[in-house]
Amino acid sequence: MIIAVDGPTASGKGTIARALAAHFGLPHLDTGLLYRAVGRQCLLNGGDPENPADALAACQFSETLLDDPELRSEATGGLASKASRHPAVRRALHDRQRAFATQPGGAVLDGRDIGTVIAPDADVKLFITASVEARARRRFLEMQEQGRDVSLAEITADLAERDKRDREREEAPLRAAEDAVRLDTSSLSRDEAIAAAISAVKEKGQ
Ligand code: DC
Repeated sequence: MIIAVDGPTASGKGTIARALAAHFGLPHLDTGLLYRAVGRQCLLNGGDPENPADALAACQFSETLLDDPELRSEATGGLASKASRHPAVRRALHDRQRAFATQPGGAVLDGRDIGTVIAPDADVKLFITASVEARARRRFLEMQEQGRDVSLAEITADLAERDKRDREREEAPLRAAEDAVRLDTSSLSRDEAIAAAISAVKEKGQ
């Protein structure tokens, strides 16, 4: 069974994808991490993620970079969003994601274009949404827990900017597949959101 989980930043898609993988005993790939590695590598190279040649060169990142805690920062998320606009970057990361999705036994992948581009044949597609306010609040609490010094206003502005870029880009923009099940997590607790996702998979996937 292939499960595609898409949605905007801090919608809860990562938490939901990990929980689904554990529940159904499937391997999980956070595809945002690949784009984050490209953004981070670009910075380490002294390149500009808005520049297609610099962004493409950064696709040659080392596997050890995937363990770098800096990959999780808001700053790296912004660089990833910029690098991910380039069609050549998306092509460079495509086969790795597709191979993961089609491995025997199935997989769970989360990202922006899993149900539309990477695995349009997925058995179950979930599109996770939440209001900007709910997402900013969650991200703020997460960052505070990590001891990062950020303001709610700053996070809200960053989220809105990144959403706009991810939705409006020409190549594989963030959008729900026509056959996706939509789940709005704005007023759901973590456990409620996971339970709703598990029910949706059971209903669709059987
Ligand atoms: O899910 P995330 O916040 O870790 O993703 C970081 C950025 O990477 C996001 O702003 C857009 C890009 N991305 C993408 O274009 N396609 C994906 N499948 C996953 C992430």
